[in-house]
Amino acid sequence: MPENCAVILAAGEGKRMRSSKAKVLQEVLFKPMLDWVIDSVKAAGIENICVVTGHLREQVESHLGPDIAAVVQEKRLGTGHAVMQAADWLRNYAGGNCLVLCGDAPLFSAATIRASGEVHCNNRLSATVITAFTSNPSGYGRIIRDGSGLIREIVEERDADEATRAVGEVNGGAYWFDVDLLLPALSSLKNENSQGEYYLTDVPGFFAKSGRKVGAYVAPFEEISGANDRWQLCRLNDIARLNVIRKHMNAGVSIPFTDGVVIGPDAEISPDAVILPGTEIKGKCRIGEGSVIGPNSLVCDSEIGAGCTFNSSQIYSSALGDGVTVGPFVHIRPGTRLMDGVHVGDFVEIKNSSVGEGTKLPHLSYIGDSDVGSGVNCGCGTVTANYDGKNKSRTSIGDGSFIGCHTCLVAPVSLGENAFTAAGSVVTKDVPDGALAIGRGKLEIKENWTPPKDRG
Ligand code: UD1
Ligand code: CA
Repeated sequence: MPENCAVILAAGEGKRMRSSKAKVLQEVLFKPMLDWVIDSVKAAGIENICVVTGHLREQVESHLGPDIAAVVQEKRLGTGHAVMQAADWLRNYAGGNCLVLCGDAPLFSAATIRASGEVHCNNRLSATVITAFTSNPSGYGRIIRDGSGLIREIVEERDADEATRAVGEVNGGAYWFDVDLLLPALSSLKNENSQGEYYLTDVPGFFAKSGRKVGAYVAPFEEISGANDRWQLCRLNDIARLNVIRKHMNAGVSIPFTDGVVIGPDAEISPDAVILPGTEIKGKCRIGEGSVIGPNSLVCDSEIGAGCTFNSSQIYSSALGDGVTVGPFVHIRPGTRLMDGVHVGDFVEIKNSSVGEGTKLPHLSYIGDSDVGSGVNCGCGTVTANYDGKNKSRTSIGDGSFIGCHTCLVAPVSLGENAFTAAGSVVTKDVPDGALAIGRGKLEIKENWTPPKDRG
């Protein structure tokens, strides 16, 4: 049995987005629409994928992984013409079936792709169109069925008469084709329509006319929705946002209010985690059991262990162990690792650093390019001076050390285990295990001081 393959159309200009970014790279829940489509196709078990690029092709091609083939459509002459550009690639799958999808309709589920493929194969159909019913079909091609329920043709809205426009079943823009039948049909397409384009939607009608069976697989309308402008993109975000939230709720995540909660499609969240209002979770994230995230937080490409609290803070490309408490108003920048039980309080920034178990950074600190041991207490206002204007240098603080308030650690510098620094010290030399570093102006007390303005 020859393998299945998929062609994704992504050459269109997307004028109505008014953007310098390719239309298929516009994001739904922080993820480019094209990636949604590719991930659904892969999740449905189809590995052989070819993307047709054209407008802003470098942008789209540089975005594709090495496992995805790309062909160029130099001139946008229609969806049928776009698939034709992949003809050579499609010949590798002779004898098999090809799924064609649009890169601007991101919500097709893997389940729909799989189920429609089964209908297509089991009924030996020449083509199977994924359709949907809607009360507002405007903008979509209309599905015309024959008396037996098979598809007779697809009529584009611009080419439809009034009676056809009233049809509530629309073309989802996704199709299964028998590759051996598709290839000759593409070369026989004509552009005799209102747009002067070679329509892929003419292929099912062409098959039906030659006596072949064309089937329909009806999907929920929400799945076939696409975005041609930013308002539609916003509508897709609304649909996808609630879908993702519902999925997590069904898996035991607590989201007591959905206000401002936006979770990307690639987040993994364990049961009994709580996501509070105003929280965005973007990219590839993992959140452990019972952790409370939010309110008003941003978690981006990061891992948060179990039993953590993360309040009104932001974290990027970093990892927290279990039982870590963060916030409010903490900024954790890329490359940071906080081990179990670390406490980070208000107004703290940490960058590219590791912080050992149980260490406390309770207030107003900057820890950059540092390796902080376990059981360390950093007093209020601890700052690592990691940048001399040219180079970034590291600071290391041994286990059990106590950093006095307002210490400035001038990197490169290293403190041993159980080291101390006196409040207000500027530490420019290494401090051995168990030693105290004091470096500050000597305090003078002037008795019976008369301020200058009161002097005679
Ligand atoms: C298309 C269908 C319509 C269907 C709708 C579903 C045709 C003629 N019409 O209309 O029946 O209801 O999708 O969303 O197919 N593209 C290219 N090259 C081109 C033209 C388009 O790659 O020359 C790509 C676009 O980037 C887009 C997709 O094909 O990803 C669909 O094109 P678009 O112009 O958006 O078609 P619709 O008018 O939405
Ligand atoms: Ca479209």
